[in-house]
Amino acid sequence: MNVRIFPSAEAAEAATAALLIQQVQRNTNAVLGLATGGTMSPVYQLLVSAYQQGRVSFADITTFNLDEYSGLAPDHPRSYRSFMRAAFFDQTDIPLNNTHIPIGNTRDPDKEAERYEALIEASGGIDCQLLGIGQNGHIGFNEPGTPFHSRTRVEQLSNDTRAANQRYFPEGKVPEQAITIGIGTILDSREIILLAIGDKKANAVAVMIESPSDISCPASALQQHPNATILLDQAAAAQLQQLFDYEQVDKAN
Ligand code: PGA
Repeated sequence: MNVRIFPSAEAAEAATAALLIQQVQRNTNAVLGLATGGTMSPVYQLLVSAYQQGRVSFADITTFNLDEYSGLAPDHPRSYRSFMRAAFFDQTDIPLNNTHIPIGNTRDPDKEAERYEALIEASGGIDCQLLGIGQNGHIGFNEPGTPFHSRTRVEQLSNDTRAANQRYFPEGKVPEQAITIGIGTILDSREIILLAIGDKKANAVAVMIESPSDISCPASALQQHPNATILLDQAAAAQLQQLFDYEQVDKAN
């Protein structure tokens, strides 16, 4: 794992956006794995700004989001499809047909999960997967205890995750299930970028990086990946012990 610690959240977010932009500039047909959540909103704002400034085009990329809540139609205001349209898709030149997110309100979620996994494979696999991390160490909606070889499937959300995400559902309850790509699916990505910001993530970050890789912390699976970069602000890095192993970055790029 390549661990990079930045002086501020803004610097870590800018570096994450820069890595994604470089990926697309190098390979205009890149297949990107995308993530949602509060951590990612500033990253998408930076990608949109880069597009508006003419520094990058997303016209030929293909995207696969990590997950979607079960039961929510794509146009439901709390769906991850709606989040992605507002934050990124509708503000850039990416054709919506190139953007993939599991369908949450399908009659047969298991079949939808199978279709999604097959679609990723048919697209040649993910070149670069963007990840956040849950306070309980989840990546995508792969909750603690998920086998590292897991593929795309329906997952029961933990109480911790539903409580953490309640802030995004002011008018109702967080759904109990989601369709998520698996940890095995994530590990198949050629490159992985994980961004964590803030002290609420500090414990999960320390376990991910410094504890033995174990299914009790899904993100610790990334220790087995040959090209994973972890970008942190000071607060998210606060519980790391082996600081001499990590890159301390004093500016964004
Ligand atoms: P957050 O979610 O960015 O909203 O904290 C991250 C995650 O749960 O993966």
